[in-house]
Amino acid sequence: MKLWSGRFTKETDKLTEDFNASISFDCRMYKQDIRGSIAHASMLAKQGIITKEESQLIIEGLKEIEKELEEGKLRFAVEAEDVHMNIETFLIKKIGEVGKKLHTARSRNDQVALDLRLYLKDEIKEIRRLLIDLEETLLNLAEEHVETIMPGYTHLQKAQPVSLAHHLMAYFEMMRRDVERLDDCLKRTDYMPLGSGALAGTGFNLDRDFVKEQLGFTHVTRNSLDAVSDRDFAIEFLSFASILMMHLSRFSEELIIWSTEEFGFVEMDDAFSTGSSIMPQKKNPDIAELVRGKTGRVYGDLVALLTIMKGLPLAYNKDMQEDKEALFDAVDTVKKCLIVFTPMLKTARFKPEKMAKAARGGFTNATDLADYLVRKGLPFRDAHEVVGKAVLYCIERGKDLEELNLSEYQEFCRLIDEDVYEFLAVKECVARRKVKGGPAPEQVLKAIDEAKVWLGREKDVQAE
Ligand code: ARG
Repeated sequence: MKLWSGRFTKETDKLTEDFNASISFDCRMYKQDIRGSIAHASMLAKQGIITKEESQLIIEGLKEIEKELEEGKLRFAVEAEDVHMNIETFLIKKIGEVGKKLHTARSRNDQVALDLRLYLKDEIKEIRRLLIDLEETLLNLAEEHVETIMPGYTHLQKAQPVSLAHHLMAYFEMMRRDVERLDDCLKRTDYMPLGSGALAGTGFNLDRDFVKEQLGFTHVTRNSLDAVSDRDFAIEFLSFASILMMHLSRFSEELIIWSTEEFGFVEMDDAFSTGSSIMPQKKNPDIAELVRGKTGRVYGDLVALLTIMKGLPLAYNKDMQEDKEALFDAVDTVKKCLIVFTPMLKTARFKPEKMAKAARGGFTNATDLADYLVRKGLPFRDAHEVVGKAVLYCIERGKDLEELNLSEYQEFCRLIDEDVYEFLAVKECVARRKVKGGPAPEQVLKAIDEAKVWLGREKDVQAE
């Protein structure tokens, strides 16, 4: 019998039952559902809405159900539709009449909002920990490569030399923002919705703050209509997840390009690479490619939920049951990606000589030659023109700038002197860029120090 059968004269069609049910996926929130029900039952007793004994029976029953679920002794039923009614049905079966009192002053609408928030809070904690692990790995790697010179690119064309540490720290910054975004999303997830009822609250004298405390929330929701129809927190999480995946995807793309023979900047560890079924020589960066690919699913999850919510009138609508699979998929995908990405990065072997060699070719020091001329008094625009001509001259002769002899240089500009050679050495070019946020080792070391302080603080937050 359905928990809502009173008003009906016919059985539910099997097709309706299957189509309507969410138990196949919302069963993942059974722990949160039980936690919420325990808090609700103790509050009902505290307020004298049910007796202490009744509350005790309900709570013990719920705890046993949780245990039995964990041990695989209970089976969810499609006939009971969703996780909320499945658990309520188990309870009534287990403790009898008293079980029927649990749903006093509560609706599945505020219940599902609660479960989803509890679930997401748990997952946010876990994902935050994984992100912090990745940040730590990046920081350790950066520390090893402050002096590793590599070409920096724009348009994927060699631009100016940087260091591998500086490049890695760019990703550190991206993911620092991801941590901040996750924390921000947590702020708005951290609202307790029970007491909102179906949409219009309840006439029972509930103590919402007590439930909030019991469940470890910081706030209670402020409007019952909004509380049951708000999925902003899930959309914010999916936005966070999409941006994080975009970052991981960009990083993956670079690792993929860098592992080509043409670049040869990095070699993925065998343990994090795969082979080809036909080409014996192959070693492919599949992990990075899959991370790049999975970014698409997470974007899809975000767009799905935004579209589900678009145009929904207040308050709850069944459309919203579709929120869960998108959210769960994004949670699973982000976790899987972070879990494999960090050790893949940790075990990757970077090739400093290859990077340094690449940094030397391709006129990466052309801007430095222009800056050299500026230091000797030439306006920058004129210096740019002079160097452009020198580069063209070199291209025609298959030379690099530092291979020109002094008299060749002086054909382009009289201001060029013997000291130009030292000035153009790529290491010097990097070391000179001491501006705040620049790639000079002394600046990168400062950035690493600051990052360590931040990471230490964030780890403490994590431990709280
Ligand atoms: N399974 C539903 C969901 O996930 C729970 C809320 C159902 N409420 C309702 N009035 N039909 O959204």
